[in-house]
Amino acid sequence: MDQFAHDKIPNIQLDMARLPRHIAIIMDGNGRWAQAQGLQRAAGHVEGVTTVRRITEECSRLGIGYLTLYAFSTENWNRPQEEVDALMHLIVTAIERETPDLIKNRVRLRVIGDSSRMPREALERLERCVQDTSAGDGLTLVLAISYSSRWEITDAVRRIAAEAADGSLDPAAITPDTVSRNLATAFMPDPDLLIRTGGDMRVSNFLLWQIAYAELYITDIYWPDFNGYDLRRAIADYQKRQRRFGLTGEQIQ
Ligand code: IPE
Ligand code: IPE
Ligand code: MG
Repeated sequence: MDQFAHDKIPNIQLDMARLPRHIAIIMDGNGRWAQAQGLQRAAGHVEGVTTVRRITEECSRLGIGYLTLYAFSTENWNRPQEEVDALMHLIVTAIERETPDLIKNRVRLRVIGDSSRMPREALERLERCVQDTSAGDGLTLVLAISYSSRWEITDAVRRIAAEAADGSLDPAAITPDTVSRNLATAFMPDPDLLIRTGGDMRVSNFLLWQIAYAELYITDIYWPDFNGYDLRRAIADYQKRQRRFGLTGEQIQ
C-alpha cells in the first residue's frame, strides 16, 4: 500500500489503558511483495527488515511490553539453500546494525528457537546483541529464529520427562504452568494479539500453546508494506473485541 493512501486516513484513536501487553507477528509476504514488482524474493526480505525497524519503533512509542516476530521457522530450513543463506545473513547483519539504536531506545532483544540448527557464527553474533541489549527496560523484542512450536513443545516435554525420570518431579504434579515454564517463552506473558500479514489463514507452527486465547488479526497487506498505521488499526480492532476466556458476556461486564 502506498504511503499517500495512508496519509489520507485519519489518525486512529487507541485506548492507551487497554493496549495488548504482548503482540506476536507472523511476518509473511516478502516473496510475493517482491514478485509483484518483478524483483527477486531476496529484495522482499531486504525491504522486510525496514518494516521490522518501523514496527519495533511504533511498539516502543506506544509502550507495548513484548513484541515477538516470526523471522525464520524450522520449516524454512527446507527452502532453497541460497535463500536460507541470504536470510540468515540478512537477519544477523540487520540485528548487528540496529543494536546501537536498540540500546538507545532501551529495547531488550531476546531470541527463541532451535539454536542447534543455527550456524555457529550467526548464533554467536546474535547472542552478543542479546547481551549488549540486556539492560533495556523498555520494549522486549523477541525474534523467533529457527523456531517452531512443535520443536519447542517437544523440547519442553523432553525436559519435563527427564525430571520425572530422575525423581525430581512427580508426574501427578504436572500442570499447564509446568508446561509454560519449560517453553522458550517462559520469561514473558502469552500474546494478547497475533497478527499475520500476507493474508493466509493459518498459524504455520507459531506459538501454538501460547496463542490459546490470543485475538487473531490477519491482513492481506504484505509484510514490506505493513506500517505503523496498519499496526494501530490492528490494535484498534483488538480493542473492539470482548475477550471472554470461556465465560459469558454478562460475566465479563
Ligand atoms: C516471510 O515471507 C519471510 C519468511 C518466511 C522468512 P515469505 O518469504 O514467506 O514470502 P511469501 O509468503 O513467499 O510471499
Ligand atoms: C511463516 O511463513 C514463517 C515466518 C514468517 C518466518 P511461511 O511463509 O514460512 O509460512 P507458510 O509456509 O506459508 O505456512
Ligand atoms: Mg510465506
